[in-house]
Amino acid sequence: MILDNKKYYIITYGCQMNLHDSEKLAGTLEELGAKPAESEKDADVIVFNTCCIRDNAEKKAEGNIGALKGIKRKNKDLIIAVCGCMTQQKGRAESLVKKFPFIDIVFGTHNLHEFKELLLKRIDKRKKAVSVYDKEGDIIEDGRTHRTSYPNAWVNISYGCNNFCTYCIVPYVRGRERSRSEEDILAECKSLIEAGYKEITLLGQNVNSYGKDLENRSFARLIEKVSELDGDFRLRFMTNHPKDLTEDLVVALSKSKKACKSIHLPIQAGSDRILSLMNRKYTREDYLNKIELLRKYIPDIAITTDIMVGFPTETEEDFSDTMDIVKKVGFSGAFTFIYSKRSGTPAEKMEGQIPASVSKSRIMRLIDLQNSINREDSKRYLGKTVEILCEGYDEKKKKYLGRDTYGRMAYFKADESLVGRFVNVKITETGGISLLGELVGVK
Ligand code: 5AD
Ligand code: SF4
Repeated sequence: MILDNKKYYIITYGCQMNLHDSEKLAGTLEELGAKPAESEKDADVIVFNTCCIRDNAEKKAEGNIGALKGIKRKNKDLIIAVCGCMTQQKGRAESLVKKFPFIDIVFGTHNLHEFKELLLKRIDKRKKAVSVYDKEGDIIEDGRTHRTSYPNAWVNISYGCNNFCTYCIVPYVRGRERSRSEEDILAECKSLIEAGYKEITLLGQNVNSYGKDLENRSFARLIEKVSELDGDFRLRFMTNHPKDLTEDLVVALSKSKKACKSIHLPIQAGSDRILSLMNRKYTREDYLNKIELLRKYIPDIAITTDIMVGFPTETEEDFSDTMDIVKKVGFSGAFTFIYSKRSGTPAEKMEGQIPASVSKSRIMRLIDLQNSINREDSKRYLGKTVEILCEGYDEKKKKYLGRDTYGRMAYFKADESLVGRFVNVKITETGGISLLGELVGVK
């Protein structure tokens, strides 16, 4: 095969969707004979799978690509490919190639499946291969995936987003929402479970609207169908839009024997004025009602969220509404972000952009608040025994790790044979959000 004895290294930026795309890129490289390299230094093909959701994600990728200039000068055969959300932006592929003429291959999110063709063109014809499509095409089901996250497996259920939150670039770089067929999703889940995967995470920009473009299909139904598959596995999904979280879905989750008791429900802001400017299509009261609905059917469900500070015109009063709702809900975890201006989005043109110093002070206060909620919440774990799916080894902590049904991470002494097994861990110490414990049993 054309890449026999060659090694590849993929650098992924951004979300789980991108990490899973990288598994597909790795599948293509393996199909052509390549094997993973330990680091970029001993790779023959280096792929940058980029993200553009915030400015720092783009800067990081550009910095790392730029750093390869010297290596490429010494090794002319090295192939450098750049793809993902950053290259999908209008005019970005051209500007990247201009800035970094040593890049060999560029493609976007809509033609991930063309990676093989572009690689062959570069190798056979020794020509630069740049191809980015303006529009999304049909979902392409062929292609190999080289999974790297055992015992977890990610499964795409839909691509793209129709929501156009005013700050967000995703609808521009991932296209309109398209659902995969239920049959294809179920077949993939079934084969993953048969292959020994213990946790399936269904992926979409907004999983709650799955099936709206298909006949008689919905996310609630999909949860039921996946939950009916035989095997001992957990089911997770992300990410959710609060406006599309229906009672049907919550009922399906509460009845499912496989669904984990956790949900990621991005709130973004706690002020109605900001939510409206963001085009989120819900109010703080609507959001609180969704929380009530979730807790009515699944009283102990863990709710995590995404929160942004410093959206244009955000006042101290708006921010205190965010702090207030964070206290009211009691999130089990929160990803916090400073608003980052994205070119081509409606918020880019809004007046009242917030100075960085103000946003920084707000995010610090928000992180402090959430940390104190996490610390308090962790205390209830002390002395309890929880069921953990052992996921792997943490080099830094020198311990094995895994999560419980609520998504809480625990660290404990174990051995390699337990990776992929459900184990019982007695919690002996709690830090901020993570737990420390002792292995007391194996399921
Ligand atoms: N600036 C900052 N954060 C953003 N997010 C999306 N767009 C932006 C932006 N322009 C955050 C949202 C989203 C998460 C994935 O990233 O909180 O839920
Ligand atoms: Fe972006 Fe909003 Fe779509 Fe999420 S729902 S991807 S924040 S536009």
